[in-house]
Amino acid sequence: MKVLGIMGSPRIQGNTHLLLDEALKGAQSLGAEIEKLVVDKLEIAPCKEYYGCLKDGNCVIRDDMDGIYPKLLETDRILVASPMFFYGIPSQLKALIDRCQATWARKYVLKQRLSDKERKGAFLAVGATKGKQLFDGSILVIKYFFQAIDVQYADELLVRGVDKRGEIKDHHTALSDAFELGKRLVQ
Ligand SMILES: Cc1cc2nc3c(=O)[nH]c(=O)nc-3n(C[C@H](O)[C@H](O)[C@H](O)COP(=O)(O)O)c2cc1C
Repeated sequence: MKVLGIMGSPRIQGNTHLLLDEALKGAQSLGAEIEKLVVDKLEIAPCKEYYGCLKDGNCVIRDDMDGIYPKLLETDRILVASPMFFYGIPSQLKALIDRCQATWARKYVLKQRLSDKERKGAFLAVGATKGKQLFDGSILVIKYFFQAIDVQYADELLVRGVDKRGEIKDHHTALSDAFELGKRLVQ
């Protein structure tokens, strides 16, 4: 089983990164083959609404998304991990998601089948504050993203009150919860 992790924070070895790595380790502990994309290290232009994708399902912009589309459509499980930036996800991750208007067009406009497998995904998120609605907007974004790549939103881990780089290591349960989520996702 292939598991793709999408690391949405620009901060390397920050809270999101540590959380995602634990979830990937959990999946790997049950034999899954894991791969991680660090979005900030990739060249992903924002969607420009050229709408070439409406014709044949392919984006007309040539950049690292060329290699990412096949990964998004082939993987059995997907983990999206993100910090909260102004009650949303960082723009680098949003650019990747917006470029999936191409897969949305394949599915909903061109009526193409994206995958023959039943695929599942989970959302991992961290934020500094403790607001009740901290993750609400981002959960909707990730759910809609998963729909556009034909993935069922199956699980989530939302960690509040974590701010400085690596502070998540001091959280009582976050990293072990992530490990368990990774295991659950591939069971
Ligand atoms: C541009 C920016 C915006 C942020 N906005 C929020 C926010 O709206 N709510 C919140 O709780 N934390 C916010 N934070 C704090 C981060 O979510 C927090 O520091 C998180 O632990 C960073 O995770 P990372 O180490 O994976 O990057 C913001 C941080 C930055 C840099």
